[in-house]
Amino acid sequence: MENSSLSPFKTDTIIEPFRIRSVEPIRFTTMEEREKLLKEAGYNPFLLKAKDVLIDLLTDSGTGAMSSKQWAGMIESDESYAGSSSFYKLESAVQDITGFKHLIPTHQGRAAENIFFTTIANEGDIIPSNTHFDTTRAHIEHAGAEARDLVINEGKQPQSDHPFKGNMDLEKLEETIQAVGSDNIPVIMITVTNNSGGGQPVSMANIKGVSEIAQKHDIPFFIDACRFAENAWFIKTREEDFTDKKPIEIAQEMFSYADGCTMSAKKDGMANIGGFLALNSDELASECRNLEILTEGFPTYGGMAGYDMEAVARGLYEALDPDYLRYRIRSISYLGDKLTDAGIPIVQPTGGHAVYLDAKQILPHIPPTEYPAWSFNNALYLLGGIRGVEIGTVMFGKQPDGSEKPAAMELVRLAFPRRMYTQSHVDYLAEVIISAYKQRQKLGGYKIVESPDVLRHFSARLEPIDK
Ligand code: F0G
Repeated sequence: MENSSLSPFKTDTIIEPFRIRSVEPIRFTTMEEREKLLKEAGYNPFLLKAKDVLIDLLTDSGTGAMSSKQWAGMIESDESYAGSSSFYKLESAVQDITGFKHLIPTHQGRAAENIFFTTIANEGDIIPSNTHFDTTRAHIEHAGAEARDLVINEGKQPQSDHPFKGNMDLEKLEETIQAVGSDNIPVIMITVTNNSGGGQPVSMANIKGVSEIAQKHDIPFFIDACRFAENAWFIKTREEDFTDKKPIEIAQEMFSYADGCTMSAKKDGMANIGGFLALNSDELASECRNLEILTEGFPTYGGMAGYDMEAVARGLYEALDPDYLRYRIRSISYLGDKLTDAGIPIVQPTGGHAVYLDAKQILPHIPPTEYPAWSFNNALYLLGGIRGVEIGTVMFGKQPDGSEKPAAMELVRLAFPRRMYTQSHVDYLAEVIISAYKQRQKLGGYKIVESPDVLRHFSARLEPIDK
């Protein structure tokens, strides 16, 4: 047959790069039912049963769908206590992607943080980062050290459209080292992408810049690598010189500037559980392994079953697949674009794993002490069965002395599980959010009626304020 005279077809639609072979039904409820369910849950979405949620965007952590290859690996796993072949597969994947010599598997990211910071941090130390995630900060503080955030100013402005809002302020880093002395800084961290700052990426130039400063002062440099693949995609699409590079090459270069990383495999490991600490120093690895045996398990499984290690070994590569990453990042910006077109204020530009709604601007009539982001998040559940999470004054407002201080921002985070929802789910989401926005004048504040002393957002009970 002759070559076709047809011109190649170019599409603007970025389709899901998979087909669905196993389905999990989601349950529809009426608004009347949801009113009752939310009231029973103390108006706290954390206390809802997952079966009563239609689209669950509470977190992208451990909630994604695994591939047939990952499931096949799980069946083939080696559950030996010592020297499991599944460990060596994971070790080989981690070494290939990160270049780090030692792998210390753990049951999830915070367990790697626990081992790492318990080993290296001391009373009075300072540990700089762009923005520490909550668990990272908590482990640093638990070790008696201070977690210091040095993100660039643009990273704190919801409307700034800087392409790498997760970057660290290099001048502030130098100043910090001069002020406190390199002896009091056991490690410099950087979180990619910067979850607590809106899932914003860090540029290769910035990673390299931090690395050079760390080397000059002889301070180890570690990456909080949970969303390393999403970060690699932003570098590919936004930073000069990387357009033609493969995501895996970009990831390899990112890690080449660091001495180690902590990782939650529940994100870009594409698994439901798992994590690791990976590093180059023989001495530090041996110290960390001693603690790993105490708190996690024997060094060739850490906190993971053999089948978990198989799932992660394959998942790390799947997260770097360009077709997957194109779809992944587009599904977030697709929702962001729809909301922006409808005039709804969100953190701009959209990050890698979530859309963050700016409830301070959406609900100016609700003061921070009456929790506007909490109110808008609950409205999304009532109207459409959607569960997001408040990142605002309920989460951060309670001070150690018991007083209440408004959080810097009032955000609703809608985090997307990986490979879970399709474009029509996202279209529906946009409709629900737009409907809640149009009815925003009807929304009122909340008060807390029962709450624990720490991490109150997980279990507090609230009530709508009658006005
Ligand atoms: N670092 C970052 C940047 C994270 O986002 C998380 C978890 C961790 C470390 C801890 O990992 O959960 O496996 O122990 N973030 C989840 C979230 C909980 O919803 O953003 P973990």
